[in-house]
Amino acid sequence: MQKRKLGNSGLEVSALGFGCMGLNFLDGKGLDKKDAITLLRSAVGRGITFFDTAEAYGPYTNEELVGEGLRPYRKEVIIATKFGCKDARPATGLDSRPETIRAVTEASLKRLNTDYIDLLYQHRVDPNVPIEDVAGTVKDLIQEGKVKYFGLSEASAKTIRKAHSVQPVTALQSEYSLFWREPETEIIPTLEELGIGFVPFSPLGKGFLTGTINSKLADVDRRNVIPRFSEENIKANLILVDALSEIAEQKNITTGQLALAWILAQKPWIAPIPGTTKLHRLEENIRSTDIVLTADELAKINTTVNGITLVGERYPEVLEKQIDR
Ligand SMILES: NC(=O)c1ccc[n+]([C@@H]2O[C@H](COP(=O)([O-])OP(=O)(O)OC[C@H]3O[C@@H](n4cnc5c(N)ncnc54)[C@H](OP(=O)(O)O)[C@@H]3O)[C@@H](O)[C@H]2O)c1
Repeated sequence: MQKRKLGNSGLEVSALGFGCMGLNFLDGKGLDKKDAITLLRSAVGRGITFFDTAEAYGPYTNEELVGEGLRPYRKEVIIATKFGCKDARPATGLDSRPETIRAVTEASLKRLNTDYIDLLYQHRVDPNVPIEDVAGTVKDLIQEGKVKYFGLSEASAKTIRKAHSVQPVTALQSEYSLFWREPETEIIPTLEELGIGFVPFSPLGKGFLTGTINSKLADVDRRNVIPRFSEENIKANLILVDALSEIAEQKNITTGQLALAWILAQKPWIAPIPGTTKLHRLEENIRSTDIVLTADELAKINTTVNGITLVGERYPEVLEKQIDR
């Protein structure tokens, strides 16, 4: 697996990371512990060195799983986690007070069964705590050796600049895919200017871009709260997947691989973190790092996507309100 550097920070990660959220964060669905640990270790065996979790996933249990699964490989892997959701529950609100950041970091270290966190992200920008105070707190944690690098998630360009002036930001983790291209307007140019890496989450559009979702989701599926995944919006947005599938077929790759290869082709300092609970899909996703899209193919994808209007918000109102503008 190729490696990539996240901006100017020197942090090197596998070109494709592994988003661990779905392993057990599906309200009781997901994998049992033994299978999840086997999958995590299979990912390491196939060259993935970059793993993403958060206090809020579970809450708590995802970090424990990642800690246990990666324990034998601790020195070889980069573990990223996040603080900032009130009581570790995204829908409850935000809490990035310095004392909370410290307490959450200590608890995450225990759950991850490690004495340092490679990359610590603020999960969402807290409007009640100046970002300079957040950056200053993480700076102290870095000086204490508990954290190596600082990241933000879904932060605006203005917030990124302010935080970066206090403690260099190594990576921004925000949604980016052929299903959500808003970061291209202001965020990606800002990251490029400041030398900050980009870690796109939901790079497969939460599964939609793989072409495996074409009708109403099962009642237990957590994506049901997302307007884009209502039955009528799924139907309307399939026009995008159908168009991408045609291009993928001509190249003899899957639509999911096309979606990942497209992200990887945007900038050399981007490392997406797709999630899966299945080994064959993990292998399929890893193969996307060997796919080269030509300038003509990239232009065709661009024209195709620009010609399609997608419908439905990407978050329910309560979570949309938490996005930093
Ligand atoms: N910072 C944030 O606020 C934030 C928000 C969301 C997510 N994240 C992070 O980003 C990671 C990934 O995001 P995500 O899980 O929302 O979306 P994603 O990676 O775009 O999609 C995951 C979904 O795609 C399916 N899938 C994966 N590979 C596939 C393939 N080759 N063919 C068909 N289906 C495939 C998975 O199902 P199966 O399991 O059945 O394969 C799963 O339902 C998370 O694990 C988490 O670490 C961060």
